[in-house]
Amino acid sequence: MALNRWTQGAALAALLAAAPAFADDSTVTIGMILPMTGPSASTGKQERAGAELYLKEHGDTVAGKKIVLSIKDDTGAADVTKRLAQELVANDHAAVLMGFGLTPLALAAAPIATEAKVPEIVTAAATAMITEKSPYVVRTSFTLPQASAPMADWALKNGVKKVVTIVTDYGPGVDAEKWFGETFEKGGGTISQKIRVPLKNPDFAPFLQRMADDKPDAVFVFVPSGFGSIFMKQFVERGLDKSGIKLIGTGDVTDDDLLGDIGDSALGAVTAHHYSAAHDSPENKAFVAAFEKANNGMRPNFMAVAAYDGMALVYKALEKTKGDASGDALLGAMKGMSWTSPRGPVSIDPETRDIVQNIYVRKVEKKDGALWNVEFATIPDVKDPYKASKH
Ligand code: DHB
Repeated sequence: MALNRWTQGAALAALLAAAPAFADDSTVTIGMILPMTGPSASTGKQERAGAELYLKEHGDTVAGKKIVLSIKDDTGAADVTKRLAQELVANDHAAVLMGFGLTPLALAAAPIATEAKVPEIVTAAATAMITEKSPYVVRTSFTLPQASAPMADWALKNGVKKVVTIVTDYGPGVDAEKWFGETFEKGGGTISQKIRVPLKNPDFAPFLQRMADDKPDAVFVFVPSGFGSIFMKQFVERGLDKSGIKLIGTGDVTDDDLLGDIGDSALGAVTAHHYSAAHDSPENKAFVAAFEKANNGMRPNFMAVAAYDGMALVYKALEKTKGDASGDALLGAMKGMSWTSPRGPVSIDPETRDIVQNIYVRKVEKKDGALWNVEFATIPDVKDPYKASKH
C-alpha cells in the first residue's frame, strides 16, 4: 500500500529521530563513570586499570560488535555523575553504564538507567539497597552486609566478646554497622559503642580515645577504599596497635592498594571480604601478574577485580544475545550469569541482580617482605543478606 504524504513524513521524522541510535550499529559503547580525581581517585585508577586490562586481554570485538570503552571523570560529585550518565546515553548511545565509585554516585545514575532502559553495572559502590533503585542496576562489587555478617560470625567463634564499631557515616558504613552489630549481638556478643565518622575530611583521632577507654576485645572498622591509611596512621599514633585491641573489619580498611603504605601496623588485622590479591587460584595469579605488568607494578585491589568482572559480564551477555545490545536483552542475559572471576566462582542473582560470591576471612601477614591479606577460611556462595532477609 502506498503511503500518503502525511504518513511518509511522520515515518521519516521518526526515522531521523531514531537515526543516531542506529547510526553505528556495529559498535557497543560502555560508558564508564569513575572518580578519577578527588578523595576516591584511587578507586578510579584501580577500576580503569581493571576494565582496560580485560579489554586488552579479550580484544575489542564481541559477537561481531566493536567495544568502545568511554571513561569519564565525575570527580566524585553526584551532579556530575548524573550529567555524564545523561550525556553518555543521549549523545554517545552508550549501551551500558558502568563504574560508580561511591554510593551517592551510583544512586545519581539510577534514574537515568531506568529511563533509558540501559544496564547500570555497579563495580564499586556497595550499599545493599542500590540494586533496588532501578531494575537496570546489576552489581559486580559486593555489599557491606555480605562481608560484615561473616566477620561477626568469625568474631563470635574466636573469643571476641565486646566490640566497638567505627564506620564512615554514609550508606555502606551504616550497612556495615548494622549487619556486623546485629549478627554479633544475636550470637551473644556486645557492641559497647557505635562510632560514625564523617566521609569528608575524616578525623578518627578524637573517637579512637573514646573507643580505647571502653577496653573492647576488638574494634570493627569500615572505611571506604582509599581511606584505610588515614585510619591506620591515627590508630598507631594513639598506640592502639600495641593495646591488645584486635583490629577487625571488612576488607576495605586493609585494601591491597594501601597495605604497602600502611606497613607493619596492619599485621594481624582480620577482615572478611570477597577479594584479596593473594587469593590462591590460577585465574588470580594470572590476573595479578598481568595487572602489575600493565600498571608499573601496581597491585590490584577489590575495585580492580570488580571492574574487570564488569567487563566480563558485558562480554558474556553480548555473546549470549549474539550481539543484541538493546538494554532489555543485555539485562536479561546478565541475570543468572555465572563465571570464574579472579576472586573465585561468581554469579548474578537473577532476582536481586547482586553478585553471589565467596567471602573469605583473611589475616594481614608478611610474605617475602610484603604485606598480604592471606585468606584462611571461605564462606561459599554468599548472597546479599539484606535482600535475603526481605524475601
Ligand atoms: C563504597 C565505597 C568504597 O570505596 C568501598 O570500599 C565500599 C563502599 C560505597 O560508597 O558504596
